[in-house]
Amino acid sequence: MRTPAPCIRMSAVVGHRGAAAVAPENTLAGLRAAAASGVRWVEVDAQSCADGGLFLMHDDDVSRTTDGRGLVWRMSSTKLRECRVGGAPVPSLSEAMKEARALGLGVNVEIKTPAFAEPERVARTGRAVARLLSEYADGVRVLASGFDQGALAAARAASPDLPLAWNVDAIPGDWRDVVDRLGACAVHCLDAPGNHGVIPAVLASGHGVGVYTVNDLNRARALWAMGVWSVFADDPGALVDKSPDAGVAIPGSRR
Ligand code: G3P
Ligand code: MG
Repeated sequence: MRTPAPCIRMSAVVGHRGAAAVAPENTLAGLRAAAASGVRWVEVDAQSCADGGLFLMHDDDVSRTTDGRGLVWRMSSTKLRECRVGGAPVPSLSEAMKEARALGLGVNVEIKTPAFAEPERVARTGRAVARLLSEYADGVRVLASGFDQGALAAARAASPDLPLAWNVDAIPGDWRDVVDRLGACAVHCLDAPGNHGVIPAVLASGHGVGVYTVNDLNRARALWAMGVWSVFADDPGALVDKSPDAGVAIPGSRR
């Protein structure tokens, strides 16, 4: 018999990239803005740079969100720290986890790896994220996710207790095989018509579903009515009071 995948259910609203519409994305300021909005969980994107340092960054290249240029994957930690985002250094994943712990936020760390990445380094990144998250497991509710199955498989091997979610823009026909192989407890997918027909089957199987990116209350309500566990929102404060778990205590949560 298969061992059940470790699982954690995030709040019905999750701050996307911190709170990307309210503060610069993937920053400590974003985590503080999310916490101030009353949301209980945030999602951040984490990448590894050339020396293995883990930092918050969505894009492969730093130029959209910082005053620097270049690929995170090829930069040293020192060079990356010289890039400013919203006037501050690019935060490390450790700094983000410490901030989340202080704020009482749960964190979904999405592991980002570029399409050109070597499989061995992808695996190393997955392991490094899992190990770092295990250091915070006592104080922070965590869920790791990602599009790259190699990164998730490596995270699972490094940390058998870490809850995982598989990110996929369009849920494929073999989703069940993938989540079982990875030991993932949830699927995170785009809010796209092609997914809406499959989401009930994922939920009926006992797996969670998170949907990105949902900034409209009516869309969020439709997804919650479908049974979707979480929506990722750029301005979580606009949805949090209307969400199904508003005012409901989450076990182990200070929020
Ligand atoms: O993890 C959910 C969502 O963040 C995936 O899309 O591109 O915003 O990282 P993206
Ligand atoms: Mg993301």
